Amino acid sequence: MKNQLVVVGLGGSLAKHSSSLAALRIALEGAAEAGARTELLDIRDLALPTYDPDNNDPPNSVRHLCESIYGANGLIWSSPMYHGTISGSFKNALDWLQLLGDRKPPYLTDKVVGLISTAGGVQGLQAVNTLEFVVRALRGWAVPLVMPIAQAWKAFDDQGRAQDPLLADQLHALGKEVARGSCQFALEPPTESDASKAEAEVTPASDREARSA
Ligand SMILES: Cc1cc2nc3c(=O)[nH]c(=O)nc-3n(C[C@H](O)[C@H](O)[C@H](O)COP(=O)(O)O)c2cc1C
Repeated sequence: MKNQLVVVGLGGSLAKHSSSLAALRIALEGAAEAGARTELLDIRDLALPTYDPDNNDPPNSVRHLCESIYGANGLIWSSPMYHGTISGSFKNALDWLQLLGDRKPPYLTDKVVGLISTAGGVQGLQAVNTLEFVVRALRGWAVPLVMPIAQAWKAFDDQGRAQDPLLADQLHALGKEVARGSCQFALEPPTESDASKAEAEVTPASDREARSA
């Protein structure tokens, strides 16, 4: 493939054995099977500092996060559910994407995003829904198929393999959907006027945009 699609996975937790990271790895396999080049951004490995709006010289970990995400056609996000929402460390990574606000196009414009959450209890949809709010705020497109994985403590073995082949199939399907959706945008990228028209129609995502609107 000449211009290979790029799908970047962001996820995991600060735990050494992370179910949300295991799920993300499997979903990325699906994207790779669909022909995408993939990259995994592990929240634990990134060790990001806490987002600081006054930090004008963020470390390489933050730059790498932002450049990988901005360069991707598609994304897969995978957060554990903490107290009915996403984890603080995952949200902190998303907060750093504020640095993409002055790009052209800004933030996640026309990036397709697949969503996964892992929960200890019997459902994880609240975390997926929270992730979707962020996708929309950053002007991305969430794929309709989502993966809220309940009782994640029994879903993966120590090596991060899915215990149930159906779960692996579903995660692969999510990765493939992200690649398929990204392909549509890659075939017909937005013109500058498309992008500015869309910009004018959305709610400003930052103070700076609100002031200049
Ligand atoms: C601080 C904290 C809060 C949690 N809150 C919830 C919760 O509200 N609902 C739930 O089902 N599980 C909750 N859990 C369980 C995690 O969602 C579950 O262990 C998940 O698989 C952790 O993902 P990880 O293995 O990637 O770290 C919580 C765990 C922690 C550590």
